[in-house]
Order: sequence, then C-alpha cells, then structure tokens
Amino acid sequence: MIGRIGIIGDVHAQDDKLRQALCQLEKLGVDQIVCTGDLPDGTGDLEESCRLLQKEDVLTVRGNHDRWLLDGVKRDSPKAHARESLDDNTLQFLMALPVEISLETRLGELMLFHGVLKNDMGKVWPGTDRSPIQRNDDLDFFLSDKKRRPKFLVNGHIHFRSLIDFDNCHLINGGTLRGRWSGFSVLDLNDRTLTGFDFVEGSCPKRSRQYDLDNVSNRTIWGNTRDFDGRWSPAVLHAA
Ligand SMILES: [Fe+2]
Repeated sequence: MIGRIGIIGDVHAQDDKLRQALCQLEKLGVDQIVCTGDLPDGTGDLEESCRLLQKEDVLTVRGNHDRWLLDGVKRDSPKAHARESLDDNTLQFLMALPVEISLETRLGELMLFHGVLKNDMGKVWPGTDRSPIQRNDDLDFFLSDKKRRPKFLVNGHIHFRSLIDFDNCHLINGGTLRGRWSGFSVLDLNDRTLTGFDFVEGSCPKRSRQYDLDNVSNRTIWGNTRDFDGRWSPAVLHAA
C-alpha cells in the first residue's frame, strides 16, 4: 500500500528542477510520485521534462497549458511551446494525460487534478488580506458526499504550495517548479506529515515547512468553500 507520496506541481518545462526533484524524492524513498501537469510554456526543455516523468512513472494529469498547447490556443507568449515543434513521444504523452487520477493509499483515496476536479481553470483559496476568496460550487457538491469524499485532494494551477484543511479531507496544492516559491512536497502517510522542500541555488533542495496531518489545532478546518471568510493564515509549504 502506498505510504509515501512525492508531489510535484506545475512543471512549465523546468527540466533541471524536475530532475533535481525526482532525484531527491528517490533518495527520500517515496512509493509514488504525482504531478499536477502544466508541462509546457516555460524556458526549459519540454521534451526532456516529459521523458523524465515517463521514466520515473510519475502519475501526471493534464493542465490548462497542456490543453492549450494541444489545441493551439494562447500561443502568443514568448515562452509558449508550439505543437508543430514537438517530437512524437512528447505529443503522444501530452495527448494521453488524464484529467483526474484516483490513487488508493494506506489512509484512503487520493485524488489528483489540475484545477478543481474536471475544471482545469478552477481555483480554491480561503482568502487573505492580499488575495481574494476563491469558492467552488463543484468542490462543495463533491465534498457533500461524505461516503465518496477522498482523504486527500492534490491540485496545482495557482502556483502556491499550500495545505487547505476540510473536514476529514486535505487539499494539497503542489505549487510549481517555476519562479520564486518553487519546490515540491512529500506526503508521508506512515508518520502522517506533509513536508515542503524548496530549491536552493547551487545546492540540494532543502526541507522547509512541515505539517502534522492529525494535529490541526493551529489550522482552520473548513466544512466547504462557502465557509471561507477571507481571514486565512495560509498553511504554506515553502520557507517564508
Ligand atoms: Fe501552471
């Protein structure tokens, strides 16, 4: 049964950081690695990123950027990849990406998607002084079925590694391999923790924040996104 899971967020063609993350996750002895998609549209090597994900059997879902690339839309940014330039392996890999993946773990079901469930543009955010509340009716409807409710939801899209706690369900945002807050996370169901790792220039990725899945005394637990009040202290997974 899967007990330790590596979580990689939106890749955006950061093949160097992807290689570092995979190497570190292997050293940490994870049983499975998942990735929230958005593989293209960045300054690195998309083909190599796809090869690395395939080589390490990383369970990967399709993001909005993967969809846009395949559909040939929103290709005007200088960092955007073009479908015509992709090799066959990359194209086949991108075309085969599922929208959602369900995984059985030792603590229950983990569901992986890019935005919110089947909507790759969906966002969930309890709201802070700096960033407004993002509620989601589809997620609320999904969470209302307590028998179906997975123990873990893993998404990306908002590029902010964080943990949002719902009743008996944790939503983990994988963040991204791009930019200032880049890194990855480890969900350890053996010691029931979630730990962030940050990239460090010229060195190995460094462990940053860790959360106890059971001890939520200093975190807010939401019933659903209707409860969001805009005064959240984010449970971030990167160093301040
Ligand atoms: Fe993204």
